[in-house]
Amino acid sequence: MPILVTGGAGFIGTHTCIELLNSNYDIIVLDNFLNSDPESLNRVKEITGKDFKVYDIDLLEKEKVEKVFNENAIEAVIHFAGLKAVGESVEKPLYYYHNNITGTLMLSEVMEKYNVHHLVFSSSATVYGVPEEVPISENFPLSATNPYGRTKLMIEEILRDLYVSNKNWSIASLRYFNPIGAHESGRIGEDPKGIPNNLMPYITQVATGKLKELNVFGDDYPTSDGTGVRDYIHVVDLAKGHIKALEKIVSTNGVEAYNLGTGKGYSVLEIVDAFEKASGKKIPYKIAPRRSGDIAECYANPSKAEKELGWKAEKGIDEMCRDSWKWQSENPDGYRVKGSALS
Ligand code: NAD
Ligand code: UFG
Repeated sequence: MPILVTGGAGFIGTHTCIELLNSNYDIIVLDNFLNSDPESLNRVKEITGKDFKVYDIDLLEKEKVEKVFNENAIEAVIHFAGLKAVGESVEKPLYYYHNNITGTLMLSEVMEKYNVHHLVFSSSATVYGVPEEVPISENFPLSATNPYGRTKLMIEEILRDLYVSNKNWSIASLRYFNPIGAHESGRIGEDPKGIPNNLMPYITQVATGKLKELNVFGDDYPTSDGTGVRDYIHVVDLAKGHIKALEKIVSTNGVEAYNLGTGKGYSVLEIVDAFEKASGKKIPYKIAPRRSGDIAECYANPSKAEKELGWKAEKGIDEMCRDSWKWQSENPDGYRVKGSALS
């Protein structure tokens, strides 16, 4: 029975599709390509040598989502589909609430109707708001500082209510820390539209010469060198966490949240340094004012995932930087190949 992957054409989705296929799962991808390119899925097929169905569908179109469940005996859903840009969510809150929350409601309703009760949901470390201390455990207080974060928080609550209403549900909310890196083949990776918001794609575009210099947002935080500290995790490790979560939810019922992080924090300047070593490229940077909404430090206590899922991140910062650079240097325009029909 196949696993439905919503948002499977995106950054984390494509890497997870590869791990699923390599673990001999059948998959079906549902994506409306709002923030991705169909070429990413061609490359998943190329890397794995396996074929799968792709539905170009918006989750908000419930009848079309129903058709997918009608045509396929789906066993479980891994739900990545959603919008994720914090700044954009502040400017367009209704767009974010509608896409992320209504999309999840539509999906859950269809799942309930077709008796599919196994769900892995993409949550985020953003649900911890401004944490009182680090490392962050799953039982820390939850809050949000922007509409994007509130969508994750609200969806987690909706999923808890679903389980209360029907004990057949089995749900894992995976709280990702900061995914970077790319598949070691260099064929798939993060492909942000426009100027990147996140640190690693910004650095890799400085390295290719597309962007002039990195702005380091603040050097006066109470951290080792004054710059922000985050828990960067290789996207392939993160993808593997989904396989472990899937194995867990098909064998038990309940609703649980798990941190997926390495447990180790790196500052912005440590990342710049690690990237320069891995790529051999100099990253010019300047210190800029703090970015509004940023916190000083955020890293996980990942022990619950290790204990209950048997999952632990394995790849270090050098591999993360090396693979991010391989992807960016070999695909400077992402999936948009110059001169092709995709450009
Ligand atoms: P992404 O934008 O690369 O992938 C999301 C995919 O969902 C895209 O392919 C997009 O086209 C699709 N999508 C969006 N709305 C849709 C809709 N209504 N119907 C169908 N498809 C839709 O993002 P990603 O980095 O792969 O993130 C995946 C998930 O993980 C998201 O839910 C995101 O919020 C969450 N997350 C990401 C990060 C991160 O730093 N990348 C951190 C924490 C949580
Ligand atoms: N940073 C810079 N310059 C940049 C971009 C980022 O100095 O050009 C710094 C930030 O100030 C922060 C660190 O690099 O200290 C990481 O910033 P990112 O934007 O890469 O990541 P965030 O931790 O801010 O946020 C990310 C996702 C959120 C998610 C959160 C927790 O973008 O959606 O991780 O999972 F909620």
